[in-house]
Amino acid sequence: MFYENDAGVRFANARGFTEVRAEQESAIDPRLVSDEPPDGFDIRRVADVDPHLVHAVDEAATRDIPATEQIDAIPYDEWVAHVLEHPLFTADGSFVAIADGVGAAVSLLLVDRETGRALNMFTGTLAAYRGRGFGGAVKLASIRWAAANGITSMATTNDETNAPMLAINRRLGYRPLGRRVEYLRSDLP
Ligand SMILES: CC(C)(COP(=O)(O)OP(=O)(O)OC[C@H]1O[C@@H](n2cnc3c(N)ncnc32)[C@H](O)[C@@H]1OP(=O)(O)O)[C@@H](O)C(=O)NCCC(=O)NCCS
Repeated sequence: MFYENDAGVRFANARGFTEVRAEQESAIDPRLVSDEPPDGFDIRRVADVDPHLVHAVDEAATRDIPATEQIDAIPYDEWVAHVLEHPLFTADGSFVAIADGVGAAVSLLLVDRETGRALNMFTGTLAAYRGRGFGGAVKLASIRWAAANGITSMATTNDETNAPMLAINRRLGYRPLGRRVEYLRSDLP
C-alpha cells in the first residue's frame, strides 16, 4: 500500500503489480465542526466501559470493511495489544454507543498530542443497528473531544467503495486529500 504518486505507480507496474483497491484519505479541523450531539444515543468514553463491549462491536464490524483479505476473528488479547496498547490510542477520545446492553457502534481515535494531530483508527456499527445514525454519532463524539483537546487536524482513510462511511465523512465536513492504493501481484505464492 502506498499514497498514489506517479513514481510509485511506475515502480509497482514495472514489477507486475496492479491496483486492486483504493482508499480515500480525508481530513478535518475538528474545531470547525459545529454539529451538536444528536439526541437519543447513550454514548460513553471507551475509558469508562468494559473493554469487552468495545472489542465485540469492533470485531463484528471490522469483518464488513471492504478489504482484499477476509478477517475471520480478532481474539480479545490480540485486540488489546493492537488497540488499547497502541501508543497513540486514546480511550478518552474514543467512544462507544450502548444500545440494548451491547456496544452498538464504536469510534476509535489515535492522537499525537505533541503535533495536535489525530487519526480515526476505526468506526463501526453492528449490522443490526446500521442506518440509524449510530456511526455518525460516535464519530462526532470523537471530533468534539478532539476540538476540546487541542487537536487541529483529524485524518481518516476509507475504501473508495464504502458509501456509508464516506457519506458520514462528507456530512461532518472531512475534505478529500489523496488516494492510498493497494497493489497486488497475483502470480506470487
Ligand atoms: C460505515 C458504518 C460505520 C456506518 O454506520 P451507521 O451506523 O450505519 O452510520 P449512520 O447511520 O450514522 O450513517 C450512515 C450514512 O450513510 C448513508 N448511506 C447508507 N448507505 C448508503 C449508500 N449505499 N450510499 C450512500 N450513502 C449511504 C446514510 O444516508 C447516512 O448518511 P448521513 O450521515 O448523511 O445521514 C457501518 O456501515 C459499518 O460498520 N460498516 C463496516 C465497518 C466499516 O466499513 N467501517 C469504516 C471503515 S474504517
